[in-house]
Amino acid sequence: MTKKIGDVILDVNNISLRFGGVKALTDISFNVREHEVRAIIGPNGAGKSSMLNCINGVYEPQEGSISFRGQTFSHMNSRQVAEMGIARTFQNLALFKGMSVIDNIMTGRNLRIKSNLFMQALSSSSVAALASASA
Ligand SMILES: Nc1ncnc2c1ncn2[C@@H]1O[C@H](COP(=O)(O)OP(=O)(O)OP(=O)(O)O)[C@@H](O)[C@H]1O
Ligand SMILES: [Mg+2]
Repeated sequence: MTKKIGDVILDVNNISLRFGGVKALTDISFNVREHEVRAIIGPNGAGKSSMLNCINGVYEPQEGSISFRGQTFSHMNSRQVAEMGIARTFQNLALFKGMSVIDNIMTGRNLRIKSNLFMQALSSSSVAALASASA
């Protein structure tokens, strides 16, 4: 079922990002509304990944701000961003070598796992349930 496009939830305002003399992003603004699908397109080196990395807190823009669900940030904090529900996938596959498929999937579920080291060591029912739900 198609959901009705709602209010702006992500608002990117006047973002500029430089790496030394390289201007990766200059005064970029756009927004995304609830239930809206937005695409960022551009040639190689245009700054698409850099923009996503500003939103997920990997890069810190020199100028501008990003608002998500009414909260405004000059620098996004990666952990906080993930907790707020922003997720990304990567241009290239980035799996942990030497880890099983299920362990790689569980890594992506890290923030949702409600357990502690002791529960994990004993493979408590909540940890086991999560593993089987993800399998
Ligand atoms: N960590 C970095 N250090 C220095 N320069 C960088 C860094 N990341 C990106 N750049 C530069 O910023 C510019 C934008 O790169 P970016 O990777 O964001 O482009 P892109 O649109 O994602 O390209 P592609 O389509 O190839 O993935 C390029 O000139 C790139 O060389
Ligand atoms: Mg890219």
